[in-house]
Amino acid sequence: MHYTVMKEESILGLNLHEDGVYVDCTLGYAGDSGEILKRVKKGFLFAFDQDDEAIAWSYNLLKTIGENFLIIKSNFLYMKEELQKRNIQGVDGILFDLGVSSPQLDNDYRGFSYHKDAYLDMRMDKNNPISAMDVINTYDEAHLRDIIFRFGEEKYAKSIARNIVKERQNKKIETTFELVDIIKKSMPYKETLKSHPARKTFQAIRIEVNHELDILEESLRKALSMLNIGGRLVVITFHSLEDKIVKNVFREVTSTPKFVRGLPNISAEYLPDYAVINKKVITPTSKELQENNRSRSAKLRIIERIK
Ligand SMILES: C[S@@+](CC[C@H](N)C(=O)[O-])C[C@H]1O[C@@H](n2cnc3c(N)ncnc32)[C@H](O)[C@@H]1O
Repeated sequence: MHYTVMKEESILGLNLHEDGVYVDCTLGYAGDSGEILKRVKKGFLFAFDQDDEAIAWSYNLLKTIGENFLIIKSNFLYMKEELQKRNIQGVDGILFDLGVSSPQLDNDYRGFSYHKDAYLDMRMDKNNPISAMDVINTYDEAHLRDIIFRFGEEKYAKSIARNIVKERQNKKIETTFELVDIIKKSMPYKETLKSHPARKTFQAIRIEVNHELDILEESLRKALSMLNIGGRLVVITFHSLEDKIVKNVFREVTSTPKFVRGLPNISAEYLPDYAVINKKVITPTSKELQENNRSRSAKLRIIERIK
């Protein structure tokens, strides 16, 4: 089952009102959505996901809690357009709990896990035309190296990319275990004894397949533009590059322009529309880390629309 990361902190961060309208951009297994629905008795919840299995499961759960919700199968990049189609111009809180869910990772056939032998798929959305198998078998060596280095922060990216290209000349690389073997051969044996040798490369390929970093900034900006005054945006990231994007966007929209900084009277039009709620990033408690090791890289940031 999915362990919802920093659930209490996210729910508190959203500052829920019983009659508010909220958006969960990453429904997953409804750990957060269920909690929101319980507390928002007279309001409404819109929940987005691009994974059919997560949606089917969560629909059954949410309908035992209330009827005031709608699940929309879409990439959250289109959240604003999807809401506007339904005549929603502003909402009171939006949550992003990024990345993949535990059932996606643990599932025997989705190809996300280096512990399970499966076809190299890794698509959250089955309609996505590019799977991990396409990335591994068609990207050129420099592109593969770049992805593995940047998105995986893998120091053996160069030799992993070289060996992928070498192996695929003999035979198409089709399964997770074939890729794991190539990765193991691409680093000194002692490195394979630390954390799992394929962890970083698999993370990198998954990020590429699902365009996780490409769409984040635009999704955040659209989300910010949908907040009502007093509305909160809560974002949980699991990767340093994701957190950097969130931090930079939040910094930009909460700052006064340089040319007025330090002036005694700043006209209201130059004052920021948003304020950061937690100056210091929130991370899981040691209790949560003991319960769920996958929380270890999680970082939570909260921002509020103030005008
Ligand atoms: C970490 S899980 C969310 C777990 C959820 N908060 C819970 O408690 O069950 C992330 C979910 O977001 C979905 N997701 C990730 N990126 C997405 C995107 N760009 N558009 C729509 N859904 C996305 C994934 O399919 C996955 O189900």
